[in-house]
Amino acid sequence: LKGFDIVNGLPVSKTLKIGMFHKKWKFHRDIPSTPVFAYGTYKDTATVPGPTIETRHGIDTYVKWQNHLPSKHILPWDPTIPTATPTTKKGIPTVVHLHGNIGEPESDGHADAWFTARFQERGPTWTKKTYHYYNNQQPGNLWYHDHAMGLTRINLLAGLIGAYITRHPEIEAPLELPYGDEFDRPLIVFDRSFRTNGSLFMNSTGNNPSIHPQWQPEYFGDAIIVNGKAWPRMIVRRRKYRFRIINASNARFFKFFFTNGLRFIFVGSDSVYIERPVMLNEILLAPSEIADVIVDFSESKSNSTILANDAPYPYPSGDPVNGANSKVMKFVIKEQTEDDKGRVPDKLIKYPSPDLSSASATRYIAMYEYTSDIDEPTHLYLNGKSFEEPVTEIPKVGTSEVWNVINLTEDNHPLHIHLGLFVVLDQTELVNVDEFRNCMKKINDAIKCQISKYARGKNMEVLEHEKGWKNVYKMTPGFVTKILVRFSYIHSNASYVFDATAEPGYVYHCHILDHEDNVMMRPLKFIK
Ligand code: C2O
Ligand code: CU
Repeated sequence: LKGFDIVNGLPVSKTLKIGMFHKKWKFHRDIPSTPVFAYGTYKDTATVPGPTIETRHGIDTYVKWQNHLPSKHILPWDPTIPTATPTTKKGIPTVVHLHGNIGEPESDGHADAWFTARFQERGPTWTKKTYHYYNNQQPGNLWYHDHAMGLTRINLLAGLIGAYITRHPEIEAPLELPYGDEFDRPLIVFDRSFRTNGSLFMNSTGNNPSIHPQWQPEYFGDAIIVNGKAWPRMIVRRRKYRFRIINASNARFFKFFFTNGLRFIFVGSDSVYIERPVMLNEILLAPSEIADVIVDFSESKSNSTILANDAPYPYPSGDPVNGANSKVMKFVIKEQTEDDKGRVPDKLIKYPSPDLSSASATRYIAMYEYTSDIDEPTHLYLNGKSFEEPVTEIPKVGTSEVWNVINLTEDNHPLHIHLGLFVVLDQTELVNVDEFRNCMKKINDAIKCQISKYARGKNMEVLEHEKGWKNVYKMTPGFVTKILVRFSYIHSNASYVFDATAEPGYVYHCHILDHEDNVMMRPLKFIK
């Protein structure tokens, strides 16, 4: 789906209408059709994932997102967590966030800016029907997905996911990476479970049923879906391909590798090219991270290979994957070698390095998990605060800040910051973490709890391919992860072309959707 028109040979802005429809989707030949929520121009053409939206740098795309969903959800939800609720109790609240977008708050898909079918009901921060995407940032990979308060995990599970690519031909064409629909494609990967009748299965009983009747701390499915098909097979030519791999799971991390030893040439992380390609045997992707890679099938010694996964779930200390969910998809490689010209260049795109001296604030963001008497998680918070508590992060537009993210839980949490791009500076283990956590749970102040006394354990190297600008990153349990977040364009000195200080502002959150919903998410607002 093109987010621009061509007039007299030049791209011009375009308005798209994209609906959300309740329909059936075939995930696998042996699974009966599954009721889903799908994005598309029409119900007939709506797909899971939704259409890939292709845009041009500097050309505005407008999207009128339309909710055509029925009055009841197809999945169980939980009214005891903060949840978008229409007053009539009818209709499914939805709101679309373009993940990785650098754009105005009115079009950012704020969790309380939801709306139901025909915009009949609107959440408290709803402002407009047609979203405006400026596409003024660096070229790269974004994705769009639902973001409604307390319903994100089930709205995505139902299928409200799609890819969005912004291209900048002038600076990308000279790289001569594989291009065109056949050789350059998104791979949107997620896990789902099914009932024998084909419907999506999600546990309807919570782990703490007396507190939260339905909410579970992590959803894991036993089938792996790529581009809407369970364990698909793709026939490829013996040449280079570009895959934009998006982890669209609720909670599953993937550590991808090829069973025949083929390697990935990593060229971009999340929405930004890295400076130089990096050869990798495996790639660990948390929910919502994106790996932009080149795979050269002419290097393959076999005629087929499996893209596999060996990340434990929950990550890192959960169960190992077993037979089926260790497989992602199969590539069948044609016999005949092709000459696809060109090599992947040594240099990709260089953006400014983070400048620590420019940071105008230092913040501490602590991640907490709370448990019940039966020692099951009841909820997770950032900085010990619910989402409703007044905003505490109010950076100045155009500045950079240092955020020290302190993970006091047992699990890895992918932190995503709307509007911002950040660089991971270092990761330091906390010593005597229990003592520090006790203090933090009491007074919730990293300085008063003497963080520097505890943040002196081992240092973990940031991997080469993750040293560039990112919009989400894996926060290791028991570590302080120091990042430099930039709230201005990274590809130029130009200031934003929109007003980032407008209402309703933005959010930052853990991208494990079950955490985000309950409620590992905080508001983020800007001042001039
Ligand atoms: Cu991918 Cu706040 O989202
Ligand atoms: Cu989390």
